[in-house]
Amino acid sequence: MTALALKGLYKEYRLPGRQVAALAGVDLAVAAGSLVTIVGRSGCGKTTLLRIIGGLEKQSAGEVAFDPPGARIAMVFQEPRLMPWLTVEQNLALVMRDQPPDEIKRTVGRYLDMLGLGGFKAAYPSQLSGGMAQRAALGRALCYNADIILMDEPLGALDAFTRRNLQEELVAIFLKHNKTILFVTHDIDEALILGQRVLVMADGRITAEVAVPFPYPRDAAGEPFYKLRAGLLASLTSPPAQRGV
Ligand SMILES: Nc1ncnc2c1ncn2[C@@H]1O[C@H](COP(=O)(O)OP(=O)(O)OP(=O)(O)O)[C@@H](O)[C@H]1O
Ligand SMILES: [Mg+2]
Repeated sequence: MTALALKGLYKEYRLPGRQVAALAGVDLAVAAGSLVTIVGRSGCGKTTLLRIIGGLEKQSAGEVAFDPPGARIAMVFQEPRLMPWLTVEQNLALVMRDQPPDEIKRTVGRYLDMLGLGGFKAAYPSQLSGGMAQRAALGRALCYNADIILMDEPLGALDAFTRRNLQEELVAIFLKHNKTILFVTHDIDEALILGQRVLVMADGRITAEVAVPFPYPRDAAGEPFYKLRAGLLASLTSPPAQRGV
């Protein structure tokens, strides 16, 4: 089953004296319950793509279709974006407002424990480290019980160790809850550790795709990844075409 289908997606930004084609024709079908990673040079349109899928931005042309049509979508950004005046627990509870209080407490507690934040329920975001705040933001996306989670370099600002831990947690959550996840990253190893498919974007288009047929948990240092990594590197380092309309 296809959870998300993009057809001829096009996005043009008008800047003074110039137009930028941030997306220049994206077609994509994402299977329900799959984890797709997206890599690409800075400025190739990854964030624009996620923002349009998430409804934060309107495409200039093309279609975004969800199945089911009212699919719940959560977004995790590169920085945590927690509400500074709410505690960690309240930040997560906020997205569950329409549910019974005991259900909220149980769910929030479960995810905070899973993400190693059980002891920080009453802390405010300013009292957390960057990695802890990012884990809280991930917990908030999970509490929202989204069908589709869009992640825009959520681990980019973290140290290698915390990043590795969170990659493992994300895989565990993905396997357990069977979410559909679109995950943008600059890191090829991260894309290969997480993605069942890795999409390469360049100049507003998807220019290559690599299937990663290995079971989780994965070790990107393992031999099967050599060839995939080399292929991805080659498609990422080919010279960018001149963009602009
Ligand atoms: N609000 C905006 N107004 C004008 N141009 C924009 C806007 N947002 C993005 N762009 C342009 O669209 C293109 C794609 O930007 P986008 O943020 O999607 O790239 P990205 O792949 O996410 O890059 P990065 O890896 O650096 O985050 C860039 O040329 C950028 O300048
Ligand atoms: Mg971006």
